[in-house]
Amino acid sequence: MKVSQLEGRRIGFIGGGAMAEALLRGLLVNVPADRLTVSDVSQARLDSLHAQLGVIVTPDNEEVCRRSDILVLAVKPQVLPAVLAPLKAAGAILPRHLVISIAAGITLAQLEDWLSPEIPVVRVMPNTPALVGMGASALSGGRSASTADVEMARQLLEAVGLAEVLPESYLDAVTALSGSGPAYVYLFIEALIDAGVKEGLPRDLARRLALQTVIGSAEMIRRTGNHPAVERDKVTSPGGTTIAGVQALEDGGFRSSVFAAVHAATRRARELSGSR
Ligand SMILES: NC(=O)c1ccc[n+]([C@@H]2O[C@H](COP(=O)([O-])OP(=O)(O)OC[C@H]3O[C@@H](n4cnc5c(N)ncnc54)[C@H](OP(=O)(O)O)[C@@H]3O)[C@@H](O)[C@H]2O)c1
Repeated sequence: MKVSQLEGRRIGFIGGGAMAEALLRGLLVNVPADRLTVSDVSQARLDSLHAQLGVIVTPDNEEVCRRSDILVLAVKPQVLPAVLAPLKAAGAILPRHLVISIAAGITLAQLEDWLSPEIPVVRVMPNTPALVGMGASALSGGRSASTADVEMARQLLEAVGLAEVLPESYLDAVTALSGSGPAYVYLFIEALIDAGVKEGLPRDLARRLALQTVIGSAEMIRRTGNHPAVERDKVTSPGGTTIAGVQALEDGGFRSSVFAAVHAATRRARELSGSR
């Protein structure tokens, strides 16, 4: 991780759940624990984060604001308005802060409305593989966020995987592709395992082979930079087994199902962010 923009910054988390913990673990590689503060409604959760990670913990969200330059909003989207209202009333979040929201579906306009337009805000759409340091996040800066602010947020998210800066108009499609994407991949892995079992393979073996095939294939595309079709052609010999399997997938509408899935999820993301 490049940390130039984060050097010397104090980072606070409001909400100490799964996502906050993943980010804290990633950040701790380069950021000292005494620059990281977390609040949560559960004292047991705070005790556990302090014991495991050595970070500063507090039940007081205002204290996190006082102790931090960067504030990561890591509570569930439905509780975010109720978390921000008292902080706004107390004047706890100031233009000197950079506010990074990872709350799914909460728009920049909503954040700027709930805080104040002069507060720099960055909206992030992360995904669950961030929990194992392999996330794919997209982020967009609000009207008061400078290029340096957005870069700082990008570097913070890079602690748990890939982080791409995009216009906010892309975020509904990103939600549908990489936000919901793990569920599509899990479904494929599950189907591959069951299909192996149907053909007589022991389940444990089918699971190990299916997982390694998915991981290995993704790594092939990533490392070679090749179009997936180039790699697919290489393993599809004339009249062979793979082309028989590929034909069955095409007959089953595999490709158009993926298009339909991402389209349906994009529409739903649009509805949800518009209706909140
Ligand atoms: N998990 C993911 O992979 C993922 C992916 C994409 C986006 N996100 C977004 O990331 C955000 C966090 O998700 P998560 O999975 O980390 O959720 P989570 O595990 O439920 O974490 C949220 C934490 O905030 C605490 N909290 C609730 N109200 C609070 C308050 N008023 N002040 C301080 N802390 C409070 C919660 O405590 P209680 O549990 O006691 O309520 C919980 O510990 C969400 O907005 C979600 O949309 C997550």
